[in-house]
Amino acid sequence: MLDYHRLGRLPAKHHIQFKRSKADMTDGCPVYYEHCITRKGFDGAYSIAYRKNNPARELDAKPAKLASAFEPAAADAVGPVRRHHLRSPGVAGKGTLWESLRLLMGNDDVRIGTSQPTVADSGLVQDGDADLLLFFHEGSGRLDSELGSLAFRRHDYLFIPRGLVHRVVFDKPGKGALPPHVLWMECRSGLEIPSNFRHPNGQFAMDAPYSHRDFRRPTALSKPTPGDGHAQGKVKLLHKRNDAYSWRTLPHHPFDVVGFDGTNYPFAFNVHDYQPKTGLVHLPPPIHTTFLGGKGSFVVCSFVPRKVDYHPQSIPCPYPHSSIECDEMLWYVEGDFASRRGVGPASLSLHPAGIPHAPQPGRYEASFGAERTDELAVMVDTFKPLRLTKHAMGCDDPDYHRSWMGAGSKGTYTD
Ligand SMILES: [Fe+2]
Repeated sequence: MLDYHRLGRLPAKHHIQFKRSKADMTDGCPVYYEHCITRKGFDGAYSIAYRKNNPARELDAKPAKLASAFEPAAADAVGPVRRHHLRSPGVAGKGTLWESLRLLMGNDDVRIGTSQPTVADSGLVQDGDADLLLFFHEGSGRLDSELGSLAFRRHDYLFIPRGLVHRVVFDKPGKGALPPHVLWMECRSGLEIPSNFRHPNGQFAMDAPYSHRDFRRPTALSKPTPGDGHAQGKVKLLHKRNDAYSWRTLPHHPFDVVGFDGTNYPFAFNVHDYQPKTGLVHLPPPIHTTFLGGKGSFVVCSFVPRKVDYHPQSIPCPYPHSSIECDEMLWYVEGDFASRRGVGPASLSLHPAGIPHAPQPGRYEASFGAERTDELAVMVDTFKPLRLTKHAMGCDDPDYHRSWMGAGSKGTYTD
């Protein structure tokens, strides 16, 4: 997805004998096992890893059940079409990153939820259904994976390619820091860098909202963690495929890679490294585009603190608009949300297609003369309708839809 990256030891060419050292001998095979991890069959991005163990070895598989399953709410529970405001802290789960996940909405292309883990270590997991894009509203830590480790921090996006065996380990919150809180985007149709951000040679264009330097790639190969069970020859791995969870048991640790290269690997990008654009007059939401769902099925946008429009008669807050083919999810991170009734950090709103978007009362005129906004938010616009889940209806604010009728003041500039 990004550029070519390599770590560790590699043979000179693909698919040739790579003799292993005595210390790495695990069986009678004199060479490392070459493991090709490919996308779009064999026609997409790929990485090639070199392992100490045959990756196909497995001891056992058993069903597992997690509350994070996607359960759309019944139509009569959702009710008529309207705007929704979900108070995501109200559906907090417990346990690991995955156990505490509460999916709130989704379609065939993307599912969106929130996770507030109370256990620092996710354990070994693998999502066979989707690329994961996590946004760390709060929390920092480290991703370990078959394809290396990297540190993540507050307000990072973390991309984990589908099928990658990984674990997420959170730091203990420091003084004044809040416990981990994660916006979860399960990108079932995939996730891409928009092609208009790249030159034909793959390099990001100079007017793209980020450069290659802004992305953080794995910096070291991951090692087995004590307690993973590898000393006993039984390593448990939580696996999701076709929305069913399984516990797989491996006789060796999957972090046995001595080197890899390719373009399919995890990365992190901090939202504060996003370079916003400002115009003479208000520019439309695509200027905030950060990532694209597969085949253009959805967009992920970053609204970051920025200067606003500079025409002397500009109206910095968004013009009323109807993006009539998109449902819009907005995750509020921080900034001035005062005019959105009841909305605060980690609030999540859903505005279905067809209902016009417009400033709340008083906000339009209050924006005249404004020079900057300090708000921070993540938006996902989807072309297929988003279905709300039972968890969503458990934290739904029934008054939000009517809040455009009341008195307001200045507020958000998000679209
Ligand atoms: Fe909008």
